[in-house]
Amino acid sequence: MADSPDLPRYTVPSLSREDGDQVARILQQRLNSLTDLHLTLKHVHWNVVGPHFIAVHEMLDPQVDAVRAMTDAVAERIATLGVAPVGTPGALVAARTWDDYHLGRATAIEHLGALDEVYQGVIESHRKAAKDTAELDDVTNDLLIGHLHELELFHWFVRAHLESAGGDVSTAGATTELDAARQARDSTG
Ligand SMILES: [Fe+2]
Repeated sequence: MADSPDLPRYTVPSLSREDGDQVARILQQRLNSLTDLHLTLKHVHWNVVGPHFIAVHEMLDPQVDAVRAMTDAVAERIATLGVAPVGTPGALVAARTWDDYHLGRATAIEHLGALDEVYQGVIESHRKAAKDTAELDDVTNDLLIGHLHELELFHWFVRAHLESAGGDVSTAGATTELDAARQARDSTG
């Protein structure tokens, strides 16, 4: 049988090289998403202003560290599967399907509104990747599920700031970061 030059030369035992390649492709998209997320969280850490500055500034650094650790685990899983992980900024920008984070210097509540939208997008695509790898590779599926425990917790930390005592979330219905930021700001009067 002719060998395909596009497939990895090896992958983990018991996976076909085709499946190893497919799992690595799914993981490369997660690597792009998580790298973008930890850079965005630092950007917010640097640009948040106004009342609640210190609470949000300090809340974000442990999230940056945790998400950065996720990128390392994802990249090393790609390498373990026999594929070269791509971690350069230009490749990330060329491959991503979303825009840069839209807010610069802004208040805590505006950044939290926008981050609610950011986390929703990352978690939805991470859950899809977990589903897509469930049949292909248990180990990758377990890795992604482990990330979701933390990502969904961090999303709750963000969303709790936008929630009323009655359980309403000020960003409900927003579909862009800027709309979510506006709704969050307006709800505080
Ligand atoms: Fe800092």
